[in-house]
Order: sequence, then C-alpha cells, then structure tokens
Amino acid sequence: ADRAIRLTVDAGKPGATIDRHLFGQFAEQLGHGIYGGIWVGKDSSIPNTRGIRNDVVAALKAIKVPNVRWPGGCYADSYHWRDGIGPNRTTRVNTAWGNVVDSNAFGTDEFMDFAKQVGAEAYISLNVGSGTVAEAQDWMEYMTADQPTTLAKLRAANGHPAPYRVAMMGIGNESWDCGGLMTPDEYTAELRRYARFVGSYNAKEPSMKIAVGPGTDDTAWTEAVMKTWKERHGWSFDIQGLSLHSYTIYDGWPPHMPSTGFDESAYAHVIKETLKMGPLIDKQSAVMDKYDPEKKIALVVDEWGAWLAPTPGTNPAFLMQQNSQRDAILAALNINIFARHADRVRAANIAQMINVLQAMILTDGPKMVLTPTYDVFKMYVPFQDATFIPVSYDAGSYVHGDTTLPRLDAIAARGKDGKVWLSLTNLDPNRPLDVDAAALGFKATSANGQTLSAPKVDSVNTFDHPRTVAPRSISGALKNGAIVLTLPPASVTVVSLQP
Ligand code: AHR
Repeated sequence: ADRAIRLTVDAGKPGATIDRHLFGQFAEQLGHGIYGGIWVGKDSSIPNTRGIRNDVVAALKAIKVPNVRWPGGCYADSYHWRDGIGPNRTTRVNTAWGNVVDSNAFGTDEFMDFAKQVGAEAYISLNVGSGTVAEAQDWMEYMTADQPTTLAKLRAANGHPAPYRVAMMGIGNESWDCGGLMTPDEYTAELRRYARFVGSYNAKEPSMKIAVGPGTDDTAWTEAVMKTWKERHGWSFDIQGLSLHSYTIYDGWPPHMPSTGFDESAYAHVIKETLKMGPLIDKQSAVMDKYDPEKKIALVVDEWGAWLAPTPGTNPAFLMQQNSQRDAILAALNINIFARHADRVRAANIAQMINVLQAMILTDGPKMVLTPTYDVFKMYVPFQDATFIPVSYDAGSYVHGDTTLPRLDAIAARGKDGKVWLSLTNLDPNRPLDVDAAALGFKATSANGQTLSAPKVDSVNTFDHPRTVAPRSISGALKNGAIVLTLPPASVTVVSLQP
C-alpha cells in the first residue's frame, strides 16, 4: 500500500509576505479579452454598468483581483491613448493582434472604471516602441494629475474630476521583440529617459516603475537593466521593478499542445515544462542579487501561464484556448513557486484574464463560464498578503513514460486572518495521495477547506456543463499527532488548520 507523505509546517520560522499582487491579472486589447469579455457597451442587452459586464465584474470581485495590467502586451507599444478618450474615438487597425478594427470604445476611462468596479489597482503599460516620452507624460498627467492642469480638466470633462491612481507603470513591453526589437543598450537608453521623465503627477500616490526584463533564461538583458539601475539610480532616475515573461509552451513554437482532448503524456510534459519557472526565477534573481542584494527591485512576472493551440475554428490571432484541470494544477504550481520566491517576486500577472490564453473566465455573447484556473485563484485568496511559512516534506514521485515529476507540491502561510493555510497539489493523475500534516509552533487539530479535482486531467467547464470541474469541501482530523488528509488524483487542495 502507498505510504502517506509526512509534512511538517513550521510556524516558528515565518518568511516573506506573499504579496497580494502575485495574484494580478493581464487584460490586453486582444481578441475577445476586452471586447465581448469585459466591454459590451452601454446599449447591450447583456447586463452591464456603464458598458462593463456585470457578471464578469461579480466573478472577478470574488477572487479579489489585486491589479490588472492593460492595454498590453505587444498591443501597448502601438497604443496611442488619445485614440480612446472622450466622445469621439479614433478607429484603428489592431496591428498587434489580427489586424481587426479596433473601435477604441474601451479606453483609459473605461479601463479605470472597470478596475474600480472589480476593486483592483491599475497597472498601465506605456508605449515605448512607437510612442514618445512626451506622449507617455501626457497620459500619466491625464490619469494622475491632482492639480488643475489642462489634461486634468480634460479628464474632468470626460467624467472624472478626481485623479486616478496608477499603482504600477510598465516602461514598455518585450522591448527585445514586439516592443521594438531593441538591444539591451538601446533599451536602457530609453529606460533612463522614460523613468526620468514619466511617472505619477500625484506626489501622494507614486507609481511603481517597472522596466522590461527578460523573456528567457538568458541573463544579458537583466544584467544590462540592473547595471544601469545600480550605476545611475538616484533622485532623478529610479525603478522599483523588473519584468519577467515566461509562458508554458511545450514542444516549440508556435504553441500547438491542444487545450482539450489530450492524454496523460501531454499532461505530464506540460506540467514538467511549467516547473521550469522555479529555476528560471533562481537564475534571473541571482543576477538581480549581484546588483541589488537588498532586494529593492521586485521581480514582476507580469506574463505567465499556459500557451496552448488555438481552439479549432477560432481566429488564431485571438489566442483563445480552453482551460482544463491541467491548467488548474499548472496555476497552483506557479503560484507556489512565486510564494517560495516572495522576497524577490512581489507581483505577477497571469495571461490573460478573459477569453485569451489561460483565462479565468470564458464568455460567448451573454454566456459566461468560470474555468478551473478561476477556482484556483479563488481558493488561494487567503494567501494574499499572507506570511510564508516553511513546510518540509519528501515529495515522492509520479512517473509517466520518460517523465518524472514530484508527486506532491505544498506551501503554507499565516493568513491575514491569523489562520495557518496549507495548499497541497497532488500531481499524480492516477493515485489519491494520503498526507499527514504535523504542526510545529502552533496547535492544529483539524483541517477544513476545498479541493479541486476533475473526472480527468483534460476535463473542462463549458457553457453547457459549467461546473464539471468545481471545488468541493474537504476536511481532515488529527491522528497520531498529525492531520490526515486524502488528496484526490490530480487535485489542488487548500485548507486552514484549526486549533
Ligand atoms: O499575451 C500575449 C502576448 O505574449 C503579449 O502581448 C506579449 O507581451 C507576449 O509575447
């Protein structure tokens, strides 16, 4: 018979804060991510508030989205903010994504309204590739100025006298590729000017400035940005974050792993691929440590998630894919990796929020369905701003063909509610897993929470069968000094340990 895995949760050795911004979302002006997914317009028969879908807002509020990154992505470096304000919008071609007509009906004021309705902070990506420093200055002034300037008055005329808060400000996007094909030296020259001249106009609410970072495990870009920061930062130039983009793409480009109807081998390979996030963060963080041992600069993983084959019959430029129990496992594993690196990784944005790549929500006209990834984000809410607690265990192994994976992945944290929370992922799709959780430094007599499992690893939620994958209650009781729990095959479980 299978032996139980013993975990020791040591509350006596608290670690870093698991920043709530690790649970951020990315919403790009791409396919149906915004148009249809968020924005339906004020005259739509789909229930909305000022054009923004009520069902989507309600669902997002429940997962306590800390921040939303917008308008891109690659789109950001061809976005001109003046196209999307006021009564007369400029219609453009979305050259980043499918050359479709972009009405710009959803612009800055609509984005800020959406963020406010959801309860999220705004993370704005500036156009460095095809914009100018002056255009970016004007945009930040339009959004944040709290004095009666011409642009603040224009914002008021467009319905928002009070300044908006831009909590995070990205200085370009993937400037090594779609954001302008720059060399590290070309980018750091742009970075110095943008970070020098562009920022919040509201002294009480500065924006965290985030430089473009690497998109692979090559460290030349990170070296260049961190060296620039180390040598030049001071009163006139500073940044607070470095971005990292890393998608789970198995077996080369273009992404071609199906999001539905896949076998166990595809499950195991994709999960093995996603676990590379840990070594990638270690490698890039080591370069950051060299220049910034005090960890002043946050590593911001502002694009991550599974990038799979487009859903057959959809526009491939819209990056639509289904979302299965495999995505739920993948999400939990990545969040756990971020939590283990919480001293350096202080924000992250899954790509993308709605209808694009690894989405929380899928919509089709008036219909909406919540994905297994959504449920993971909901179950992890107690980890937002919680304090990391070490948990030790021997993970065992799950072997399929040539692929060996850990059988168990676990993190623990002391929540803001004072409770100790434990997240346990059983990676093995064939065997339930017994665990015994022993508490060090606190009292635990039972565990209560939820587990997300599915009939198969490729099970999905559809508009017709919206809750095939859904969490259900799980509890465990004290036996021989440890809490005993049985984790279903291929499941994500989050429990609080009760005294
Ligand atoms: O999320 C899709 C795209 O992936 C983004 O626009 C870009 O930044 C990345 O390459």
